[in-house]
Amino acid sequence: MAEHNLAIIGGDGIGPEVIDEGKKVLDYLAANTPGLTFNYTEFPWGSAYYRETGRMMPEDGLDQVSANEAILFGAVGDPDIPDHITLQGLLLPMRRAYDQGVCVRPAYLHPGVTSPLAGKSAGGIDLVIFRENTEGEYAPVGGRLYPGTPHETVMQTNVFTRRGTERIIRAAFEYCVRRNRRMKVTSVTKSNAQAFGMVFWDEVFQVVAADYPQVETESLLVDRVAMDLVRWPEDFDVMVASNLFADIISDIAAVVTGSMGLAPSANINPEREYPSMFEPVHGAAFDITGKGIANPLATISAVAMMLDHLGEAESSRKVDAAVVRSLQERKVMTPDLGGTATTSQVGDEVVRLLWEG
Ligand code: NAD
Ligand code: IPM
Ligand code: MN
Repeated sequence: MAEHNLAIIGGDGIGPEVIDEGKKVLDYLAANTPGLTFNYTEFPWGSAYYRETGRMMPEDGLDQVSANEAILFGAVGDPDIPDHITLQGLLLPMRRAYDQGVCVRPAYLHPGVTSPLAGKSAGGIDLVIFRENTEGEYAPVGGRLYPGTPHETVMQTNVFTRRGTERIIRAAFEYCVRRNRRMKVTSVTKSNAQAFGMVFWDEVFQVVAADYPQVETESLLVDRVAMDLVRWPEDFDVMVASNLFADIISDIAAVVTGSMGLAPSANINPEREYPSMFEPVHGAAFDITGKGIANPLATISAVAMMLDHLGEAESSRKVDAAVVRSLQERKVMTPDLGGTATTSQVGDEVVRLLWEG
């Protein structure tokens, strides 16, 4: 039990709407758990800030946030501002600057939730994606030559370091072993086409796997994984993939377990030198922004992951249990899950279930 300094960045679109519900849960816990205190610093950054200042965050933004223990992040993105400006101006620099190389994205088919796939029952999909989060295909390396000419040439370079690659693969194996998973790790690559980065990844995977003889391993191509996540998602336990591939398969995993509105994500700096960041997998969701119907459960589950990271295991467990019960009871659900409730009603229901215990 302790006092925790948290940075809160709601961002754009439905980001601030779902973050309000995450804060509601934290406020409830602080008010009802002796000795537990959260000090929030809210940073009003994002596309509105960009319109005013020409920047997504102030020049010293990263320094302003870095004193906090963790960051709770909503989403960024704006229909009228190019994504490379919004994302490269706020979210991606944070993941890189705070060396959040290990991204954890669980996907579980909960009781009360219907998968769009036929014949899947509760618990039948239970996988966790480990996403390399600071390099790979997202490395800010590349260039544009001879713009506007017939010889125009654009390079977008993938970067795989031994440290980054080994760190994410080892994190996946450690999680598999420590969390008593089903003892299987699937590495997702495209080594048949990408002979440098992915072949290197496969080599590192083999080396790390040798330290975990009790864990079954497989290496699959990402196109095959896209197919298997739809036809046999129950076969996957822990998965590990590069930045881009894990990004894509995490949306598939989210939707086969019921909704983008349920999937949480933890961006971890394993060395704890910098803050880790917790957010929903989903984005700004322009199509439902301002309607008050975004599902806040992904964010609330991200809050549970944050509490676990902060050493508040009991509070984390309680939040997870309240989320599961709200889904199981199906009384208060947003439209993505077939209900008519608002974002705020779902947050209230989670708090009510926390109170019921
Ligand atoms: P998106 O995740 O915003 O939306 C995809 C679909 O899922 C939409 O139909 C949306 O309504 C639905 N959805 C998402 N979250 C939901 C929720 N909580 N409840 C109910 N339904 C939900 O993906 P997109 O449309 O590709 O991206 C929109 C913008 O958000 C883009 O600018 C993109 O770059 C940005 N984005 C940001 C982040 C982030 O900040 N972490 C993540 C993904 C996308
Ligand atoms: C995610 C998002 C981001 C990513 C985008 C918005 C840059 O899709 O967190 O999954 O690709 O990492
Ligand atoms: Mn994504």
